[in-house]
Amino acid sequence: MIEIDGRRLNARLQAFAAIGGTRKGGVNRQALTEEDRRARRLLAELAWARGFSVFQDPMANLFIRRAGQDETLPPMLIGSHLDSQPAGGRFDGALGTLSAFEVLESLEDAGIETERPVVVVAWTNEEGCRFAPGCMGSMAFAAGEIPAEWQQKLATDGAAFAGELKATIESLPRAQMLPLGFPIHAYLEVHIEQGPSLEAGGISIGVVTGIQGTRWLNVEITGQTAHAGTTGLAYRRDPLRALTTALSGLYEMIMPSDPDARFTIGRISVEPGSVNAIPDKACCTVDIRHPDPARLDELERSIASGITTEAERQRCTVAISRSFDMPPCTFAADLQQVVERAAAERGLESMNMLSGAFHDALFVNRVAPSALIFVPCLDGLSHNEAEHVEPEHIIAGCQVLAQATLLLVST
Ligand code: GLV
Ligand code: MN
Ligand code: MN
Ligand code: MN
Repeated sequence: MIEIDGRRLNARLQAFAAIGGTRKGGVNRQALTEEDRRARRLLAELAWARGFSVFQDPMANLFIRRAGQDETLPPMLIGSHLDSQPAGGRFDGALGTLSAFEVLESLEDAGIETERPVVVVAWTNEEGCRFAPGCMGSMAFAAGEIPAEWQQKLATDGAAFAGELKATIESLPRAQMLPLGFPIHAYLEVHIEQGPSLEAGGISIGVVTGIQGTRWLNVEITGQTAHAGTTGLAYRRDPLRALTTALSGLYEMIMPSDPDARFTIGRISVEPGSVNAIPDKACCTVDIRHPDPARLDELERSIASGITTEAERQRCTVAISRSFDMPPCTFAADLQQVVERAAAERGLESMNMLSGAFHDALFVNRVAPSALIFVPCLDGLSHNEAEHVEPEHIIAGCQVLAQATLLLVST
């Protein structure tokens, strides 16, 4: 058994919530921004103060290492992410990263020597909202390479990915550079559920069995800009009319007919964006999710055909591209059992569940057995500044992480 310091963990969560903190009590700490760099620097400084070593790789994934008795053994990896949504909560990502760091400090406080090294990770750009796709850091770590096309990416705010990545790495000059990807024994991640099931069941620990699939599309409809006052219906080639008509049909069709499907338009824009000009471009992002990959294909086809039909009706052209395609995953049963055992040893009730949100654990699971541990959040609300987690659940999640880490470091 290992005791974590709940008060220290809560204080840390507050300190990190101040980095990019918003007036409504949330955080805006989007990937590879100055706020993200400040959070990474704070974590690195806390690590150096405890005598741990700090590393980063060419994707700016940040690693904090506590030595093991046998340094030749692949380390146990624990962590999550520090980047946030533009109007994000203070727990999404930070909870898992700081819980992992708390485990490292608690091991140190108790003078517990572990057979394997234990490494904490803060993955780069889990959210994917500033630069798509999501989980860039863990995806590249698992693949052992950074896809060449990422270098050309531009952020939603116009910043270049390559420059922001370089500046982020250079903001921690004392951290040693590692090549991308290294052997690990297993990976554990604590995260808020971001949904209502645990809270509804009065259960403090979710053992995640798998993650549903996600697909992101970029839709661009092109028509012709023209005068708002003089252009009659027969002369209009209005891409926004095509987009809004198609979307209202898709909203009526996709989720009402399939309770497992998720369909979200999170970003929409028109050009030239003038009050008295018909736009010549209407663009939107599409986020679709489903546990069944075949249904994701069907949904993508229905979306493309619905939009194309309306665009043709308005004499517009359409371009649709994918920016993220993440098939569903299933986590290893034996690691789920380790988490269940860890919860039971801490006297906590747990339940199995599927994750509706994607997480870095999905990509790490491709190279080593991984497990995802959920804790409840208030009203299931997340990707919202009002996101809240009760201190008892923060502590429970960290205790289970600590206990499961202990069970795995000597196997
Ligand atoms: C990541 O935060 C997601 O959208 O699931
Ligand atoms: Mn997250
Ligand atoms: Mn998130
Ligand atoms: Mn996520």
